[in-house]
Amino acid sequence: MPEGPFGDMIKLGQKIFNHTPKYAPKYVGNSLSCANCHLDAGRLADSAPLWAAYPAYPAYRSKNKKVNSYQERLQGCFMYSMNGKAPPLNSDVLLALESYSYFLAKGAPVGDEKMAGRGFPKLAAPAESPDLTRGQKVYEASCALCHGSDGQGRTVNGQVVFPPLWGKNSYNWGAGMHSVSTAASFIHANMPFGMPKTLTEQQAWDVAAYINSRPRPQDPRFTGSVEETRAKFHPNTKYDYYGQTIDGKQLGNPANTPPAGTVPK
Ligand code: HEC
Ligand code: HEC
Repeated sequence: MPEGPFGDMIKLGQKIFNHTPKYAPKYVGNSLSCANCHLDAGRLADSAPLWAAYPAYPAYRSKNKKVNSYQERLQGCFMYSMNGKAPPLNSDVLLALESYSYFLAKGAPVGDEKMAGRGFPKLAAPAESPDLTRGQKVYEASCALCHGSDGQGRTVNGQVVFPPLWGKNSYNWGAGMHSVSTAASFIHANMPFGMPKTLTEQQAWDVAAYINSRPRPQDPRFTGSVEETRAKFHPNTKYDYYGQTIDGKQLGNPANTPPAGTVPK
C-alpha cells in the first residue's frame, strides 16, 4: 500500500467498498455494501472482482447506451445496487473507489474484457424453467438460516451481518442482480456463503427466481406506468419478474413497492 495522500485515498476506497452505508451515507438508500456482492473486498475471482473490472473501462454499456468511464460505471452501482444516488464525478467517494480498484488491478492487462475471473460465470440455460415452488424449498433449506425466512437478513448492533435479499433495504428493480440469470450465476459461484458451487445449477436458477419474485425498491427509471417501464427496461420476461403478478400482487406497482433511489439528470 503506497504511503501519503494516494495511499490514504486507496484506504478510503477500501472502507467505502466494505462498509458503504457508513462511509458514503449520502449516496446509499439501502443497507447493502459493495462487498456483499463483490466478495472478499472485491478481490474474489468469479465474484465480479475489481481487478478485472478496472482495466476493462472505458467501455460501451447498452444499459445507458453510451461509452462509460470507470467512474460512470461506479455511479450505476450506487443508483441501482445501492438504491441510492450517483456521487458526482471526481467526488472523493468515486475517486477513492477508483483508487482502490486501480491498486487491486496492479499488473493486470489493460483492455482484456474477457479476463479469467471477471464478472460472475454465466450458467447455461436451465434444463427446466425456473420454478418458484422448488426455489422456495431451496431457499428454506440453504439460505434462510443466514438471510432469514423473510429475506431481510440479520443486523447486530446496527451492523449488517447477513444482507437482505429483498424488501426496502435490498437492491432495486434496476440492479443487475434483479435479473434471474445474473443472480443464478452469482449464487451458484458464491452461495451458500462458504460453500460455493454446492447447489446444482437448476437449484441456483430456482432459488434466484424465488428471491427475484419478491418485492423490492422501484426501478429508478420508472416512467409512471409499470407496463411501460416493463416494456422499456424489462424486456426479458423469461428471467425478469418486474411487472408480473405474484401472490396476488403486481411487482413494481407503486402501491406495494418501496421507493427508488434517484437518477441524476
Ligand atoms: C446487489 C449486489 C451488488 C452490489 C451491492 C454492488 N454490486 Fe457491483 N455489480 C453487481 C452485478 C450483478 C454486476 C454485474 C456483473 C457482471 O456483469 O457479471 C456488478 C458490476 C460491477 C462493476 C463492473 C464489473 C465489470 O467487470 O465490469 C463494478 C466496477 C462494480 N459492480 C462495483 C460496485 C461498487 C463500487 C459497489 C458499491 C458502491 C457495488 N458494485 C455494489 C452487483 C452488485
Ligand atoms: C452461512 C450464511 C449464508 C448462507 C447459508 C447464505 N448466504 Fe448469501 N450471503 C451471506 C453473506 C455473509 C453475504 C455477504 C458476503 C460478504 O459481505 O462478504 C451474502 C450475500 C448474498 C447475496 C448478495 C447480497 C444481497 O443481499 O443481495 C445474495 C443474493 C445471496 N447472499 C443469496 C443467497 C442465497 C440464494 C443463498 C442460499 C442458496 C444464500 N445466500 C445462503 C451469507 C449466507
